[in-house]
Amino acid sequence: MTQPDPHSPARTIGYLAVIAGVVVLGAGSFAYAAGWLSPSRLTPTKLVSALAPPSGPALGHRRNHAKGVCFSGVFEANGTGTEVSRAGVFARGTYPVLGRFNLGTPDPDAPDATVRVRGMGLQITAPDGAVWRTAMINLPFFPVATPMAFYDLLKASHSTDPGAMASFTQAHPEFARFGGWAKSAPWTTSYAEEAYNSLDAFLFVDASGARHPVRWSLLPQAPVSPVTNAELTRLGPNHLEPEITARVGQAPQRWTFNITLANPGDETDDPSKAWGPDRRMLTVGTLIVSKIEPERDGPCRDINFDPTILPDGIAVSDDPFPAARSAAYARSYDLRASETQYYPYHLQTAKSSTP
Ligand code: HEM
Repeated sequence: MTQPDPHSPARTIGYLAVIAGVVVLGAGSFAYAAGWLSPSRLTPTKLVSALAPPSGPALGHRRNHAKGVCFSGVFEANGTGTEVSRAGVFARGTYPVLGRFNLGTPDPDAPDATVRVRGMGLQITAPDGAVWRTAMINLPFFPVATPMAFYDLLKASHSTDPGAMASFTQAHPEFARFGGWAKSAPWTTSYAEEAYNSLDAFLFVDASGARHPVRWSLLPQAPVSPVTNAELTRLGPNHLEPEITARVGQAPQRWTFNITLANPGDETDDPSKAWGPDRRMLTVGTLIVSKIEPERDGPCRDINFDPTILPDGIAVSDDPFPAARSAAYARSYDLRASETQYYPYHLQTAKSSTP
């Protein structure tokens, strides 16, 4: 029997066609992932670009929550959480944590008193190495109901059209709640006096495999002394970082870790709707922050507090935010990790030195 000639022109053309097919398929997948084939699709690139101020992003920094400071300490679990989750970090014990206090702004130099949203990125590591990351904020509910609405909000807030915000608020009535909170909620002069809330709903999975929809909150054990915005402004543009450094230098700071269980029928897919106060609450332990380090050389700088990095025993729910956030945080991380030569970057100096 004659063997086929591997070098025949027909065979070569066949190989080339297969290679071309693979290249076209690959390019098609990239184009799909990038959103070029469906311009109305929300992509991480679009979301992250929309966060930047009109003058451009602060290169080398997180594209949101850019101003912040690292902390470390422990999570002391009291064992109560094992009722609803089999995650190792809920077994009675003490587990190392690493985190970041931050302000919800794309500007790493924003004056403290100009930023309403304060946040905490937190990583808890179980003895078997399983890691739980969460990024929480001090609002009691998220300003908008969907990732697309968040994108529309960013676009409206940077728009030169004077009617853009009015049209946005008309289309998203839930945003008015945030406006009310921002106007009336007191300010504090310390990261240690803030509560930090997951807002997104997750599922806890217990030892029997049963799933429990939950949200979580860290409540400050430090006494809270509310101040006005004018009082905070008087303390200067960069008060919060030295304040928390000095406070933790004197004594570790503590937060009570509370889990809120959904009532049957509670919506889990909309973080703009707070669950009422009658929900069952479990106190699962205490976060103890014992060391503060500047972001520049601190252990949090190169961490992506992606809310979908979850240990066995915690899973995402039908809340659409964590997946959108995960993709956007990865995009932000990729950008800042490739721009380390610009860090720390100052938007104002960059703007004034632009010809
Ligand atoms: C679609 C909605 C959202 C988008 C596009 C978004 C975008 C981002 C981005 C790009 C970062 C920087 C990530 C990095 O470079 O490591 C970030 C950080 C952060 N976000 Fe979001 N976010 C969203 C929703 C939320 C929600 C719902 C919360 C809280 C409940 C939240 C809390 C935080 C916090 C606390 C940080 C700072 C974490 C750290 O210290 O690294 N975000 N966000």
